[in-house]
Amino acid sequence: MKIGLTYDLKEDIEAGRYLQDDALEEYDSREVVNAIAGALTSFGHDVVKLGGGRKFLSRILRTQPDFVFNIAEGRGNYRSREAQVPSVLEMLQIPYSGSDPETLAITLDKPLAKQLIQDAGVTTPPWIVINSLRELTNLPDRDLPMPAFIKPAFEGSSKGIRLTSRADVASRIRSTARELLKKYGQPVLVEKYIAGEEVTVGIVGNAPPAIVGIMHIIPRKKFKTFIYSLEVKRDWRNLVEYECPSKFSKSIIKRIKEASLLAYKALGCRDFSRMDFRLSEDGIPYLLEVNPLPGLNPVSGDLPIMSYKMGWSYNALIRSILEVGLARYGDAFISSHNI
Ligand SMILES: Nc1ncnc2c1ncn2[C@@H]1O[C@H](COP(=O)(O)OP(=O)(O)OP(=O)(O)O)[C@@H](O)[C@H]1O
Ligand SMILES: [Mg+2]
Repeated sequence: MKIGLTYDLKEDIEAGRYLQDDALEEYDSREVVNAIAGALTSFGHDVVKLGGGRKFLSRILRTQPDFVFNIAEGRGNYRSREAQVPSVLEMLQIPYSGSDPETLAITLDKPLAKQLIQDAGVTTPPWIVINSLRELTNLPDRDLPMPAFIKPAFEGSSKGIRLTSRADVASRIRSTARELLKKYGQPVLVEKYIAGEEVTVGIVGNAPPAIVGIMHIIPRKKFKTFIYSLEVKRDWRNLVEYECPSKFSKSIIKRIKEASLLAYKALGCRDFSRMDFRLSEDGIPYLLEVNPLPGLNPVSGDLPIMSYKMGWSYNALIRSILEVGLARYGDAFISSHNI
């Protein structure tokens, strides 16, 4: 079958247009694209590299793939940017892997996703949203969560997440929020800081979705405040240890699983996702965010690392995402393509 691969490479983006030093962080490298293309080819498919942006638009019309494996993050700093490529694919009626535009748009809007998962019964840190410098000035100190974690409302890939993201006095919360409002040109999310263990959960599948693993991210040295920030993710080999399966108690694991599957369903995730949690000292998993396009870097991606620790190869992970994606289109689609 002819499988198109959609992605946004760091080198295809004009970094000069952005103010932030971490503007390219969400985009992929050739290493990731080649690893996925290699896996798909090894299953006997013809892979067409479609890229993203304008190149994707012209190539998709020219090549007409049977199915698209999508990891495109989208362009600009719009909160719906991850929905761009799947929206075009739906318009052209081309089947594709992963979540649909609505889920991708909602999950990048962290406050909206938090509201929906909270309504579904999942615990997430209490939060407020600050939309403008004027709102920040008018906000009374008593409305600020304390201690607080301050981050851009529509970002991922650790953009805007630094050691200074945690603050426990109002003046520091305000200065970080002011800086983020100016730098990222979008609202700021101020959450209650959860001082517990860092956990990420991988899910693959639809009917039903299955937990790939629950991975405990353990700092190698004692930090007063551990944040799984850009600096840590860049130097992960030295700074953290990944424990998977994690050694939490049965009851905590049960809570993490339930919260993950509930959120996956509430947000309409499809095929695969990764959920990031903090576990409070009293063992409550607080869901921080849902990533329906988790990084698939074969060396440093949390989902691939977790999969290896659970005994899967990289190709087995890609194959399972592809298979559950194809299965959504039904037996007739599968047999008509000789899969
Ligand atoms: N409310 C909070 N309390 C404690 N730590 C937090 C909180 N929010 C975020 N963090 C820390 O910051 C990290 C990144 O936050 P988050 O997952 O929201 O950002 P992201 O940029 O979307 O992440 P990713 O790189 O997974 O896409 C978390 O893994 C955690 O270590
Ligand atoms: Mg995260």
